[in-house]
Amino acid sequence: MAAPIPRVRMRGISKRYGTIQTLNDVALDLAPGEVLGLVGDNGAGKSTLSKVLSGAVVPEDGTIEIDGREVRFASPADARAAHVEMVYQDLSLCDTVDVAGNLFLGREPRRRILGVSFLDKRRMRADAVAMLQRLGISVPDITVHVENLSGGQRQSIAIGRAASFDPKVLIMDEPTAALAVAEVEAVLELIRTVSARGVSVILITHRLQDLFLVCDRIQVMYEGRAIAERQIADTNVEEVVDLIVGRKFSARSARNTQAEGVAIS
Ligand SMILES: Nc1ncnc2c1ncn2[C@@H]1O[C@H](COP(=O)(O)OP(=O)(O)OP(=O)(O)O)[C@@H](O)[C@H]1O
Ligand SMILES: [Mg+2]
Repeated sequence: MAAPIPRVRMRGISKRYGTIQTLNDVALDLAPGEVLGLVGDNGAGKSTLSKVLSGAVVPEDGTIEIDGREVRFASPADARAAHVEMVYQDLSLCDTVDVAGNLFLGREPRRRILGVSFLDKRRMRADAVAMLQRLGISVPDITVHVENLSGGQRQSIAIGRAASFDPKVLIMDEPTAALAVAEVEAVLELIRTVSARGVSVILITHRLQDLFLVCDRIQVMYEGRAIAERQIADTNVEEVVDLIVGRKFSARSARNTQAEGVAIS
C-alpha cells in the first residue's frame, strides 16, 4: 500500500540572517488532523520555521508540499490561499474593535442600500456568534472591544479568526504563554476541537506539560536544526528536556558520529 500523502512536507529548509544560520536543512512532516508540538530552546528556529510555512519568511533553500503539491509562498496571503493559517506569538488583534469586528477584520459582510455599500453589522454579529459557538468559544459579549477581554479570551478570538479561514494547517506560536490555568485549558480544548475536524496543527510551546495533553508527536529544534522527533506516547518530559538542551544529542553524537536516531528520516 502506498504511504498516505502528508498534509505538509517540508524538506531542506534553510534560512540565514546575517551570520546566523537560523534554519539549517530542516525537514517537517505533518499528517491530516495531526497535532505536532514544535519545541526547542530560545532562538532554536521554531518561529522562523513556522513563518516559512505561513509565508511570512521566504527561505533561501528548500521545498514545501501541501497535500502532495509543491507550493511557493511569497507572502502570508499565498499561504492563506493554500489554507495555511498562523496565530502569531504577539497577537494581531485590533484592540479598539469589538469581537465580531476582529473576527471579520478585512472581510466584513456588506450590504447595498440604494447602490451604497454599508457594513452589515447585524449579519456580522450573527455570523460571529455562530462561528464562536461552533468552536466552543465563550465570550460574554461580542460587542465588547477586545482590549477589555482577558488574555485567554483574546487568544481564543485570534484562534477563532484563524480557524474561520477554513484552514488545513493551523500554526500556533506560544498560544498559552501568557495565560492563566483555566485559560490554557480552554485553548488546549480548542486545539482538540479543530484537530478532530481534520485540521493539522503545529503547536509551538515552552509549556512541555501541554504537549502531553494535545500533541500526537513532537519535533525538537536545536540551533536551527531539526534534531529529533518522537511520538508523544514514546517519550516523557525528562527526555524532551534533554533533547531541547542538547544533552541527548551531544551524548549520542559523541558515541556515534552517524548520529543514529537523531536525524529525521
Ligand atoms: N528577522 C530577523 N532578523 C535577524 N535575525 C533573526 C530574525 N528572525 C529570527 N532571527 C534569529 O534567528 C534565530 C531563531 O529565531 P526564532 O525566532 O525562530 O527562534 P524561536 O525558536 O522561535 O525562539 P523563542 O523560543 O525565543 O521564540 C534567533 O537567533 C533570532 O535572533
Ligand atoms: Mg519564537
